[in-house]
Amino acid sequence: MGMILETDRLILRGWRDEDAPSLFKYASDDRIGPAAGWLPHRDVNYSRAVIRTIFARDEVYAICLKGQGGEPVGSIGLTLEGSPERPLGDNEAELGYWIGYPYWNRGFVTEAVKEVIRHGFDDLGLTRILCGYFDGNLRSKRVQEKCGFKYMITNEKSKVTMLGEVRVEHMSVITRKDYYDIL
Ligand SMILES: CC(C)(COP(=O)(O)OP(=O)(O)OC[C@H]1O[C@@H](n2cnc3c(N)ncnc32)[C@H](O)[C@@H]1OP(=O)(O)O)[C@@H](O)C(=O)NCCC(=O)NCCS
Repeated sequence: MGMILETDRLILRGWRDEDAPSLFKYASDDRIGPAAGWLPHRDVNYSRAVIRTIFARDEVYAICLKGQGGEPVGSIGLTLEGSPERPLGDNEAELGYWIGYPYWNRGFVTEAVKEVIRHGFDDLGLTRILCGYFDGNLRSKRVQEKCGFKYMITNEKSKVTMLGEVRVEHMSVITRKDYYDIL
């Protein structure tokens, strides 16, 4: 049983097989995946497969609204292992997130990001958390600013493998020191 994180309005908990219909409902919307670099889900079986593979890692959480029967409406996660395309040092992680369209602009992702950052530094002992957004994704940029991330570097040729595209991606970072300084 994985970790459960809690904020005023949200429960962040691991994804379960039975969440597949909710995941499909929000992740089939083409306003979500392509902005984050993945394809809209095409059917509920695909969503279930994503839960069993990509979401089965330790630090991936379903964003559930309190008082809404615990339905997951988005996802947030820390990737702890880098790749040649996206290198990470020891004790570094990359943050990713999205939330279903009906829930945009209510501060939910900012609230979730702040809690996951706290968890990353306090509980996991991370030294840096990186987070990217594709050029033009001003909502995501704003979330990162509100949570204390600072602009780090722009990758003019970021490969978005799943979409077969190359995009301009801006990377932000929050260090352990910055985090404890602004607390
Ligand atoms: C980006 C995303 C996660 C934001 O989630 P959210 O819960 O709506 O975010 P919040 O409500 O916490 O904050 C959004 C901020 O963006 C601002 N914003 C909204 N639309 C905007 C726009 N067109 N231009 C600039 N800022 C905008 C909001 O006003 C708010 O900032 P404020 O609190 O200073 O007013 C959500 O829109 C999403 O899932 N998008 C699709 C997937 C995606 O892009 N994921 C991130 C990949 S890097």
